[in-house]
Amino acid sequence: MLLEGKKGLVLNVTNDKSIGWSVARVLHEMGAMVGVGAQNARMRERVDALVADFPRMRSHAVDFAQDDEIAALAAEAKGIYGEVDFLVHSAAFASKESLSNPFVQTSREDFGLALDVSAFSLVALCRHMEPVIADGGSVVAMSYLGSTRAVVGYNVMGVAKAALEACVRYLACDLGHRGIRVNTVSPGPINTVSARGVGGLIEMIDYVHQKAPLKGTFGQAEVAATTAYLVSNLSKGVSGQVIFVDNGYNIAAM
Ligand SMILES: NC(=O)c1ccc[n+]([C@@H]2O[C@H](COP(=O)([O-])OP(=O)(O)OC[C@H]3O[C@@H](n4cnc5c(N)ncnc54)[C@H](O)[C@@H]3O)[C@@H](O)[C@H]2O)c1
Repeated sequence: MLLEGKKGLVLNVTNDKSIGWSVARVLHEMGAMVGVGAQNARMRERVDALVADFPRMRSHAVDFAQDDEIAALAAEAKGIYGEVDFLVHSAAFASKESLSNPFVQTSREDFGLALDVSAFSLVALCRHMEPVIADGGSVVAMSYLGSTRAVVGYNVMGVAKAALEACVRYLACDLGHRGIRVNTVSPGPINTVSARGVGGLIEMIDYVHQKAPLKGTFGQAEVAATTAYLVSNLSKGVSGQVIFVDNGYNIAAM
């Protein structure tokens, strides 16, 4: 029960294949009280069905493109939890066109949308939640290798992840005086609704599983375990980092 007594939010979950859902389940299993987010009221119904079986879980709704919804979530979290010990940001969005057309054709609007929802949202979330995060708390975001390497088809989402990782470093500097850590987990490819928006996902998953130094598959369970470490007191002293959970694929040249 590594996380007994800890309370926090995992934002957001679409279905039982979402990385956020695996994270929420593992944090709960380790003793935490977990608020699980959905993007809107319609999606919240599915999250309500998921959390129903877990005694220390409840649902929330927040659209990361709306400041008033993020502010309302912070007020709601204060009312329910008093303080939170962790925030897990597990959300991203890019238009279908920007993921299917060549990157050079990305429109100004699609560029702004991807960076707004997938990167700025972490800043907005930390800004509104700062008074609610306990001293010594932990913020974790989900990134991807496409932030530093050109992964064909990942396109503007790679730019958004580069921005997200930079945001993590600046937020780590801003919040560190209160002992609040801000880190990124960078999973290898995993079959989820969002990931299926990127062409050739299944081939990409097979390729990474074959080429990575560690043999065998990896997935939600490994990502959730690393997130639990970052949420726990075991990672005291770790901030501003990108931790890959990809069987080591990112370090291999050939
Ligand atoms: N699946 C992968 O291969 C992979 C790899 C590396 C990183 N990631 C990252 O993991 C995170 C979770 O993605 P996932 O793969 O579990 O997919 P998912 O589709 O299950 O989850 C993505 C979530 O983002 C939310 N979202 C989208 N637009 C939003 C908005 N405007 N406001 C609030 N929430 C919004 C969706 O509602 C959904 O719950 C994302 O940041 C993703 O980029 C995924």
